[in-house]
Amino acid sequence: MIEVSVCIGSSCHLKGAYNVIQIFQQAIEDHQLHERVALKATFCMKQCRNKGVMVQVGSEKHSVTPEMARRFFADSILPLATV
Ligand code: FES
Repeated sequence: MIEVSVCIGSSCHLKGAYNVIQIFQQAIEDHQLHERVALKATFCMKQCRNKGVMVQVGSEKHSVTPEMARRFFADSILPLATV
């Protein structure tokens, strides 16, 4: 099971955290990964200066804008979830 945490702190919220979560949820649905990806919301990761919404995949943190969320899922989450 891969844990994906999306920051919903106020800064990330303004950068589109809700949209990122929606896009990830849709991708999980499309690929039927409910059993493989645990999507969670988390509070401020203390990385508010980054351009995008903070997303933690396993132990790694990434900055993800809503515009790149679908691509990010395909490149960085899907390969881990389909191993
Ligand atoms: S609000 Fe997301 S890192 Fe601070």
